[in-house]
Amino acid sequence: MCGIVAYRGLRPALPALLQGLSRLEYRGYDSTGVALNPGDGHPVEVYRAAGRLPELAAVLPAAGQVSCTGIAHTRWATHGAPTVANAHPHVDCTGTVAVVHNGTLDDAAELAAELTAAGHLLSSDVDTELVAHLVESHLSPITTGAGPTAAAVVAAVGAATARLRGSWALAVTVRGLDAVVLARHRSPLLVGEGDDFTMASSDQLGFATEVHTVRELAEGDIVVLGDRHGWFDHTGRAVTTPRPGRPAEPPAAPADRGGADDFTAKEIDDQPAAAEHLIATVAGRLARGALLHDLGLPTGERIRLVACGSSAYAARVTARVLATVAGIPATVVIASEATADAAEPDTLTIAFSQSGETADVLAALDHWHDPLLAVTNNPQSTLARRSDAVLGLGCGPEFGVAATKSFTNQVLAGSALALSLASALGRLSVGELVGFEDQLAQVPARMAATHRLSAGPARDLARRLAMHPAFIYTSRGAGVPYAFEGALKLKELAYRWVEALPAGELKHGPLALIQAGTPVILVQARPLDRLAVNGREMAARGARLIIIGPGEDADVPVAAADHEPPWGPLESVIALQHFARETTRHLGHDVDRPRNLAKSVTVE
Ligand code: F6R
Repeated sequence: MCGIVAYRGLRPALPALLQGLSRLEYRGYDSTGVALNPGDGHPVEVYRAAGRLPELAAVLPAAGQVSCTGIAHTRWATHGAPTVANAHPHVDCTGTVAVVHNGTLDDAAELAAELTAAGHLLSSDVDTELVAHLVESHLSPITTGAGPTAAAVVAAVGAATARLRGSWALAVTVRGLDAVVLARHRSPLLVGEGDDFTMASSDQLGFATEVHTVRELAEGDIVVLGDRHGWFDHTGRAVTTPRPGRPAEPPAAPADRGGADDFTAKEIDDQPAAAEHLIATVAGRLARGALLHDLGLPTGERIRLVACGSSAYAARVTARVLATVAGIPATVVIASEATADAAEPDTLTIAFSQSGETADVLAALDHWHDPLLAVTNNPQSTLARRSDAVLGLGCGPEFGVAATKSFTNQVLAGSALALSLASALGRLSVGELVGFEDQLAQVPARMAATHRLSAGPARDLARRLAMHPAFIYTSRGAGVPYAFEGALKLKELAYRWVEALPAGELKHGPLALIQAGTPVILVQARPLDRLAVNGREMAARGARLIIIGPGEDADVPVAAADHEPPWGPLESVIALQHFARETTRHLGHDVDRPRNLAKSVTVE
């Protein structure tokens, strides 16, 4: 999704900006751009492209770009289509002020009317442009020769942001001032310090490898990256004690498909090893709540699980384990729908987010002040920094936009937490706990077997069903979250309409959708006999039943446990991932980068 990179140093800025943008690419975007500021009074040069980095490279000057200050952006359209005119950086009326922005402005329409009435000429549909004009109005009059002082730009950015409503991480550069000015409100922004340069990025991944220290802007901070750096708090006072710094993480391994046709294929394939790694880190710590105690967390009776999308399905599995094993009625909150609830003492909030940057999740967390645990694949993320404790998924980078191994590891992490809590509360005998530990230990082998067993049949099925416009995905009990997750994979990758629901709900309305040949993907789960009854009801009305499960009658076989574990038929998800991916390939769509979607959803 939207990503910011800024550079101010002694070397040309462009290579560092482009490298940063390329590291942020996997998050998903639809247009991109850079602004280079020579800092000597010459104009700020802006280059933008609708499309990805190769399109931007095509409009950049071939050589001779020596500006040592610049800002850059990848955009995921919110206000206005992904066109060149709407790509960042945006400039004011005179091209003096260039701005890149993550977040969304709630008062864009009102501001646009005000600025237009004041004579500003707007040239895009994008809220960000309004910031450039607002800064311009607070800076004027600026002569093109003599640039403004850093103090003047800080004051103008402060006055402009005081007028905004919504969320923003901003990087601003102004003709005649060899500096970048940063501001943030409800959208993360980091400063990365190197020996002879300073960068800013919305995500640590955007930094050059030479960055050694990372500091985060606090809410309302305004920061100058220039000859003399300056850091100001939301009251405008200079921050004399530096914001806490931390060593930069070693650069992530370069994206490598490992010989697979696409990242999604590799990441589906990674799942048994990823699960094994996660289980090895948690399994010895289930007894008596050690997993939670080690994280410094309470072991109380109230749990709130917060997440979106696939992560919310992993949270649903966790809620079921908490209910069935620990007797705890956990609440699953869909982050984008969160509202403050009556404060219950001793509640533990667990946020599931593979990226740790999902704006809906971060915003939802403003509602509560309970101890917070992040279950995330990104221990450097905004969510992780905000949390009291972090349980890392440790599944390695996931580049495919669709969650695969991060989903299965979230299920396992959530289940381990639930079992550990159940043990802490005395709801599990030693024998029962050992039984669950055994079941967990068997998961990687069953995943590997399912991977082998299901890939071929899923491919054949995809060939037969790819052209079908609509599907039903269903299951019962512990299988329901996996039916939903499989349905989401088909929607987001293959662009197929899917109705996902518990099988018992069909007869309460959606059964009317079934006609001769309607494909119904049935994820086998206990109670099998009840599910079979629902299957017969659908078949009687002409549905084409496709069974995903361990039984002999399965269309896509799954290596399931003899006794269903409390987290249900997790392995079936691998078969469903194969089916979605194969359908997508058959239809000729991009498996790794589905249309309209982003890997990190950084807008609310
Ligand atoms: C679907 C998918 C999304 C994410 C959702 C939340 O394959 O990946 O539904 O699960 O956008 O993202 P995170 O987990 O990063 O908070």
